[in-house]
Amino acid sequence: MNGQKRYTREANVRNRQPTEPTKPIGTAVITGASSGIGAAYARELARRGLRPVLVARRMGRLEEIATTIRRDTGTSCRIWRADLSHREEIERVAAKLETISDLDVLVNNAGLGLVGRFHHLDAAAHTAMMELHVTAPTLLSHAALPGMLRRGRGAIVLTASVAAFFCLPCSVDYCATKAYGVVLADCLAQEVRGTGVRVQALCPGLVKTEFHEHLGPEWDCVRQLPSPLWLSPQQVVAASLKGLTTDRTLVITGFPYRVAVALRRRPLLQPAIRAIIRIGHRRMYSSTRRP
Ligand SMILES: NC(=O)c1ccc[n+]([C@@H]2O[C@H](COP(=O)([O-])OP(=O)(O)OC[C@H]3O[C@@H](n4cnc5c(N)ncnc54)[C@H](OP(=O)(O)O)[C@@H]3O)[C@@H](O)[C@H]2O)c1
Repeated sequence: MNGQKRYTREANVRNRQPTEPTKPIGTAVITGASSGIGAAYARELARRGLRPVLVARRMGRLEEIATTIRRDTGTSCRIWRADLSHREEIERVAAKLETISDLDVLVNNAGLGLVGRFHHLDAAAHTAMMELHVTAPTLLSHAALPGMLRRGRGAIVLTASVAAFFCLPCSVDYCATKAYGVVLADCLAQEVRGTGVRVQALCPGLVKTEFHEHLGPEWDCVRQLPSPLWLSPQQVVAASLKGLTTDRTLVITGFPYRVAVALRRRPLLQPAIRAIIRIGHRRMYSSTRRP
């Protein structure tokens, strides 16, 4: 995507010609679009004139969101059911991506949390998280990029997390795989600089979505954290899209998180930060302290 401004400009030009129906500009594929940040991304891109393709597992939810998008924006909206924790389904989606001749945006957003001591979790859970957070964004970006480079435009977003910058006990896979997303986006952004294609790592702090509900009752305490720490999915999407127009490779949403990441990078403060994380963690997840 050459930027939000381009879309806005073209939309304005079309708006001055009322006899011509509004035509969508290109296609946007959003993974994890059945709720939260992904659904907000799909709605916003459709509002800006793109044709969304929604990817996730829950067909009912995808249908509902697609219906609302079609009704509210008049744009077409497709849905692809896929479980992106399975390699063959990732490859199937990647193959379909290669056939989209006007792919303007790919949002690699599907994700979930995994809480528990590393050695208590099933090997299958570790593998599934790596497929979902590492293999899927890698192979989907690999499939999307050649067409975008040929057309000299496009945007790839990887929804990582501020967890990528912190080493949290009992969230080992989550932090490690999200850190991969940040590095992947950063390296790729440098590789494609000057081609018209933009790559962004989107790192939200706490966002009001279903994410924490799926983690079980131990995470109830997180939902009690003060409201300044929470953003809405719409705020996160707005920050990401703004970052694309200004070519920001790393977008950390929420002032407290930007400060925390900046402090985290100062070596002298690292022991103190680790101690704070350990204490906070012990208080929150007492049941995960078993050896
Ligand atoms: N909420 C937060 O506080 C927060 C903070 C930092 C980063 N994030 C990241 O933001 C992204 C979006 O999360 P969210 O907050 O919007 O949570 P959410 O509302 O739970 O949405 C997660 C999305 O990922 C999809 N998904 C999960 N597993 C999948 C799989 N195996 N295959 C395909 N799709 C799958 C879900 O769809 P189905 O269940 O229908 O498949 C859903 O659409 C995630 O990558 C998450 O790590 C969230």
